[in-house]
Amino acid sequence: MSNSAVDWKAVRADFPVLQRSIDGSPIVYLDSANTSQKPHAVIDAMANFMRHDYAPINRSAYRMAAAATDAYESARAKVQRFINARSSSEIVFTKNATESLNLLVGSWGRANLATGDAVVLTHMEHHANIVPWQMLAAERGIELRWIPLTRDGELDLTSLPALLDGAKVLSFTAMSNVLGTITPVAHLCRAAHDAGALAIVDACQYVPHNPTDVQAWDADFVTFSSHKMVGPTGIGVVWGREELLDAMPPFLGGGNMISDVRLEGFTCAELPAKFEAGTPPIVEAVGLGAAVDYLANIGMANVRAHERSLTDYALTTLTERYGDDITIHGPRNTEVRGGVLSFAFRDIHPHDVSQVLDEKNVCVRAGHHCAKPLMRLLGVTATSRASVYLYNDESDIDALADALDGASDIFGL
Ligand SMILES: Cc1ncc(COP(=O)(O)O)c(C=O)c1O
Repeated sequence: MSNSAVDWKAVRADFPVLQRSIDGSPIVYLDSANTSQKPHAVIDAMANFMRHDYAPINRSAYRMAAAATDAYESARAKVQRFINARSSSEIVFTKNATESLNLLVGSWGRANLATGDAVVLTHMEHHANIVPWQMLAAERGIELRWIPLTRDGELDLTSLPALLDGAKVLSFTAMSNVLGTITPVAHLCRAAHDAGALAIVDACQYVPHNPTDVQAWDADFVTFSSHKMVGPTGIGVVWGREELLDAMPPFLGGGNMISDVRLEGFTCAELPAKFEAGTPPIVEAVGLGAAVDYLANIGMANVRAHERSLTDYALTTLTERYGDDITIHGPRNTEVRGGVLSFAFRDIHPHDVSQVLDEKNVCVRAGHHCAKPLMRLLGVTATSRASVYLYNDESDIDALADALDGASDIFGL
């Protein structure tokens, strides 16, 4: 199915929250980089599972428990196919992308990094890919190095060989949640490997919006969250190369992750259970499986093409209408940019902008977007951020542009 063959109006109609109105006006949801809305298919899959099929997994021999285990494992297989992983043992379910990154730092990092080792990050990382490393750095005395940015908000790779020299890990975002920048993932993975380092990809903003092939990237680990890809909250993913996951110690201890426990100690379960301690997010996995089916049915290349054309439309509409009164951060070229638009509007504080937009039911995020080092680099404390997804259309961008006029009126500018 090509982009033009997708009925995007029907896609929008799949999302019940977007059919609501507040004070008689429709909702203009432009905060999907924060979290996405959910289609009927996901809501129904979870409700039906809880209504008819809910049972524990892995622990009981009765048929309902076996069927629930199948449902949970089939979600894992769907995720495997969605990102083209080699085997479903390489898919570990966590709570969210933040926990996924903490798992990698806490397990792989703690087992493999010692005082003086270097980890390379970038200036555009989310706190989830900064703070766990800083925690380990404080504990172990590892060195953190930072890839700088160009004026246009792309990674400045001129010093990459020097930064990677002797480094053990390169951990970076595939798409910035502030600038929208899509980074050259395969190139960075190759550079990391050439330098003898591992490549960890925070794909939290990428997987929901683009076709993803972890083997083509040749990454070592990839992390993302279900709730940003039309799935439920409460479940995230670590994909890792089987041999790396196999060699890593467990992250959390308890039930489900063991093969045997004696008074003297324990042995670990096989992958992926080794990293799934405790009762897992069973219902959420069913929802994530339905989300993956929903997105795969539309086609991720179509999702990307739809969002790219909306992003082009937004960049053109806002700059033509507001000229120097609006500063949109990040690359202008949508070949390397996803549908995230962080902006400053006149000198109105982003929180005031978002409040005025809210009066027109336009939902955007205001704040530091969990990327304070990047905010400091941009010389701001906060931005307003509008972000699009498959259910948005040009009318949402027009509504945003019109509502910004209201902000000028209220603040007398
Ligand atoms: C790039 C990036 N990485 C990681 C995260 C953390 O995701 P979560 O809050 O689902 O753990 C986010 C969330 O906004 C993000 O945008």
